[in-house]
Amino acid sequence: MQAAKAGKTLPEGSVLFAEVHAARLDSDQKPVTGSDGFYVAEKLMFYTAMASGAGWGKEVPDMLRNADWNYAVFTLDKQQRPGVNQAECYACH
Ligand code: HEC
Repeated sequence: MQAAKAGKTLPEGSVLFAEVHAARLDSDQKPVTGSDGFYVAEKLMFYTAMASGAGWGKEVPDMLRNADWNYAVFTLDKQQRPGVNQAECYACH
């Protein structure tokens, strides 16, 4: 957090964890927006995580590689979800 707040590269060993929620829908099935401008969370669906470690990016093709970051998805019972295609994560990250 200190590195991020200072606008610096996050150090090796950093872990970022995110809750992914489905948005609340109105009667027209459109997402409801709160006063903060963000969609209102309805239901926790799963977790995503990204973490960095020495050499973790070594085997990732250059076209997708994001330094030494690696990606995973976790289920609500806190198990790693198998079969996640990390290329999809790297496509944005
Ligand atoms: C369509 C583009 C896209 C894809 C695909 C994507 N992400 Fe993200 N991800 C984002 C963006 C944009 C943010 C920042 C959101 C914010 O700050 O509100 C983010 C944020 C995160 C965060 C929270 C940390 C942070 O930097 O805010 C984690 C953890 C994460 N993503 C993991 C993953 C994982 C794991 C996958 C693959 C299963 C994945 N993402 C696929 C675009 C994407």
